[in-house]
Amino acid sequence: MYISMARNIWYLPLAIFYFLLSLILFFVNLCIPTKKYVEIQTLGALNERAWRLVDIDDFIGEGDQVLDVGCGNGKFGEAVAEKYKAEVRGVDVVNYANSGIQIDLYDGHHLPFEDNSFDIIIMAFMLHHVKHQEDIFKEALRCSRRGLIIFEDTYFSPWQYLFVIWNDFYSNMVVGLIKIIKGIEGKGVLGMPLPFTFRSVKGWHKFFAEQSLVQKKTILHHSNIKAHSKVTFLLEK
Ligand SMILES: C[S@@+](CC[C@H](N)C(=O)[O-])C[C@H]1O[C@@H](n2cnc3c(N)ncnc32)[C@H](O)[C@@H]1O
Repeated sequence: MYISMARNIWYLPLAIFYFLLSLILFFVNLCIPTKKYVEIQTLGALNERAWRLVDIDDFIGEGDQVLDVGCGNGKFGEAVAEKYKAEVRGVDVVNYANSGIQIDLYDGHHLPFEDNSFDIIIMAFMLHHVKHQEDIFKEALRCSRRGLIIFEDTYFSPWQYLFVIWNDFYSNMVVGLIKIIKGIEGKGVLGMPLPFTFRSVKGWHKFFAEQSLVQKKTILHHSNIKAHSKVTFLLEK
């Protein structure tokens, strides 16, 4: 409890620092050569992929059929397929890249699959882009036989909430703009919906209880150098 109180106090100056830093970073990132910039981004993505795979270790078995909803460029789905010899496919509302998994575009509301088509459904950092989360949840529950894996950004204090919102705006709009200027992405990235539908961990637990989901495990990631917490939920039907 003392650690979390200290962390909450520490997160206020940290949030202010990162807010100011990100304004500077915009110009710094513009000056970094594109190749180096892509390398830095790839390194960050690899680090993140590593802890995600550790979190879900007990939950996915060899040969499972897995759907990644909001899979983006499909890289995490590829890593899951490789590690668990799972059959992974993805759906998204935006077509980002060629991927090692099959990715289908869909309308963002109705998953184009029969009931109980997959063992596990993953939703990684996509729920905060969805205004009516209940609807996409109903769809995910309909299509999954065993359960869901959710990764989300979360908060424990009002200033952390403000930081998470800023971080979402920065990661999508500011980084999106940098990528467009560098020719890495098309203008479509700026069309990403940002309804800022973040929830605290308590808020998510209440939401899952309302969907009658069994909460098997909640894994928190406090970075301590960024005013930003991430959380993994493993949920059974
Ligand atoms: C922050 S990115 C995360 C991408 C990927 N899941 C990952 O972890 O690398 C959010 C993704 O959600 C997608 N998205 C937004 N609204 C969606 C919806 N209604 N259904 C499915 N995907 C959606 C976006 O296109 C984007 O690919």
